[in-house]
Amino acid sequence: MRLLLLLLLSLLSSVSFGGVVTIVSPDSATNLRVENKSPLLSYELKYKGKTILHSSQIALQLKGFENEKWNFIGSSPIQYTENKWMAAWGPKIEVNDPCQKGRFLFKNEKIGNLSVEFTLFNRAMAFRIVLNGTEVLKNGVLQQENSQINIGNEGTAWWAWADYNTQEQLFHETPLKEATWVNTPFTTRLPSGVHLAVHEAGLVNYSRMTLKRDSLGVFTTDLVPWKNGDLVRFHRNVSTPWRVILFGDNAAELLESSVIKTLNEPCKIQDNRWIKPISYIGIWWEMHQGTHTWTEGPRHAATTERAKQLINFAAHNRIGGVLVEGWNTGWDRWGQDSVFDQTTSARDYDLKEVARYAQMKGVALIAHCETGGDAPFFEARWDAAFSLYRKLGIRYVKTGYAGAARPIGEHLFGQGMVQHYQKVVEKAAQYGLMLDVHECIQPTGLERTWPNLMTGESVRGMEWEAWSAGNSPDHTVLLPFTRGLAGPMDYTAGMADVLFKNRGDYTPWNGQEQPGMKCRVHSTVVHQMALMGVLYSPMQMAADRFENYQKSPEWQQFFRLFSAEVIQTKVLVADVGKTVVVARKFTNGVWMVSAVNGTQAREVEWNWDFVGWDSVKAFVFTDLGDWQNQPDQFQLTGEKINSPTEHVKLPAGGGKVWFLIPEAPKIPWD
Ligand code: NOJ
Ligand code: CA
Repeated sequence: MRLLLLLLLSLLSSVSFGGVVTIVSPDSATNLRVENKSPLLSYELKYKGKTILHSSQIALQLKGFENEKWNFIGSSPIQYTENKWMAAWGPKIEVNDPCQKGRFLFKNEKIGNLSVEFTLFNRAMAFRIVLNGTEVLKNGVLQQENSQINIGNEGTAWWAWADYNTQEQLFHETPLKEATWVNTPFTTRLPSGVHLAVHEAGLVNYSRMTLKRDSLGVFTTDLVPWKNGDLVRFHRNVSTPWRVILFGDNAAELLESSVIKTLNEPCKIQDNRWIKPISYIGIWWEMHQGTHTWTEGPRHAATTERAKQLINFAAHNRIGGVLVEGWNTGWDRWGQDSVFDQTTSARDYDLKEVARYAQMKGVALIAHCETGGDAPFFEARWDAAFSLYRKLGIRYVKTGYAGAARPIGEHLFGQGMVQHYQKVVEKAAQYGLMLDVHECIQPTGLERTWPNLMTGESVRGMEWEAWSAGNSPDHTVLLPFTRGLAGPMDYTAGMADVLFKNRGDYTPWNGQEQPGMKCRVHSTVVHQMALMGVLYSPMQMAADRFENYQKSPEWQQFFRLFSAEVIQTKVLVADVGKTVVVARKFTNGVWMVSAVNGTQAREVEWNWDFVGWDSVKAFVFTDLGDWQNQPDQFQLTGEKINSPTEHVKLPAGGGKVWFLIPEAPKIPWD
């Protein structure tokens, strides 16, 4: 017993009440000062000698134990961790996130033990609270998590309003002070030029966080409640997700960060060789445009015949998969309870035959499981659905929650739905299925643990361009720095007919579309191509109707060059809300360099050094107009890159794409 006590004491570097511990990042640029301050701790963060987070408290309140005090016991020695690991897929395969870890321990005889853990990376800091409760917490309820993030009052913020049910929102650029209640990721630029973003990592069995700013300017976590007001329910033990602050000298450092993934548990799927990124097209846009329907009837899109046409086109153009929406029954009662049947085909769609045909053509069929938000009904049916898909050779599933969470009154981002989304991922893994989840909570890096969780929506994506006032050209250059920091995003870009010239007759079906509204895609065509490189997703959709690609040899060439299998990423230009240029290396060695531009025409430049080849051939896609004038005019050229730097003019709402192919070295006697 004495020995145990001695061992315990030697593990704790003793810090008296009111003591301070400083953790220094592996590159020595950042200092994290943690102070033992009732009720738990406070912390401050300095980067390159300047304070970037002012004194912020960490505390939580448990229902029924509001007046209990936590006694500080000590802190573990600071521990260096190398954090090198291999990701199942991109945006970079080799991850290297060295960090220093600190742990602060508290005790309350009645309630249990609690620790606050800090992880300090070179360009990120994260903390979480871990509670190991006694029997009194066997039906524990978290009443409040008071994790503060004190960014101060000065700076520019890019943000979207807090919402417990959706992230399908436009972003605002305002002074930091005006961002009063926000969804995360939430991004700011401090007057010093340092960029900083707040998000969470490892959201498991907890509720989603928003951030609320108080009158002093301090952000505090605000969790999505259950219907009765409980925030988080637990049995003795509970751990908050990691509260993560990314920072850097510029916005490119935010984009290149991998720590949200690194903070999650290592992969739990033992043999994950079946998990493969793909590009895909789909029976999809025609429903959003209102020319066809999900429901059966004269305008039903998901017919066996049409699915086969898409499969043929995909096979011919090296597109990995085909999504078919509206293939099953239930769509005619969308909005009611217990309606979507994910095993029964519509009368004019033969699932078995389409699956056979897709397999024969080497194209992955993506099954669609809309739930209308009725998660309990989906849970009752998913074994039947997933085993059917596996039997038919289907490996990819798109899920969706377009409707209110059930039971009515719960939120799509509350703890109950977090548990549901987790169960889907594990259930899909059990059946060897990969997932694209729509109307989901924004990613928090769980794809490290469950790489079959390929991508998710949680964004105001392309669909809004079909039936609402749409997304401005600035939306897509804000996304990488906001929602994009969370993880893969199924934005569904790649529109060829941006002006809807080929739309034909349609019936408005979505209440967002006001009479006389002239819907269109708010960018040029090359901007659309470039988004498929900029907005990373290991299931990357080219979302237009395949007939629009069929008309364009340039698009077909684009598909032959494009790959969703990204192994390395380099950010070349990153100006929030203005311009983004990103280089992605594919498994076949080709680099795709994609530039997207916001509403103002701009000139940018970068260095080609990273390519590391002497001689480079490039396929280049260039706009011939801007988003307001001839946005659908563009050209494809073959070029040689000789200059070490690139200087490029990007049109308003436009873009540019290069596919860089290494040239074989010249043989001297050739
Ligand atoms: C909303 C999804 O985001 C969209 O992709 C899908 O087509 C519809 N729901 C119907 O499921
Ligand atoms: Ca959606």
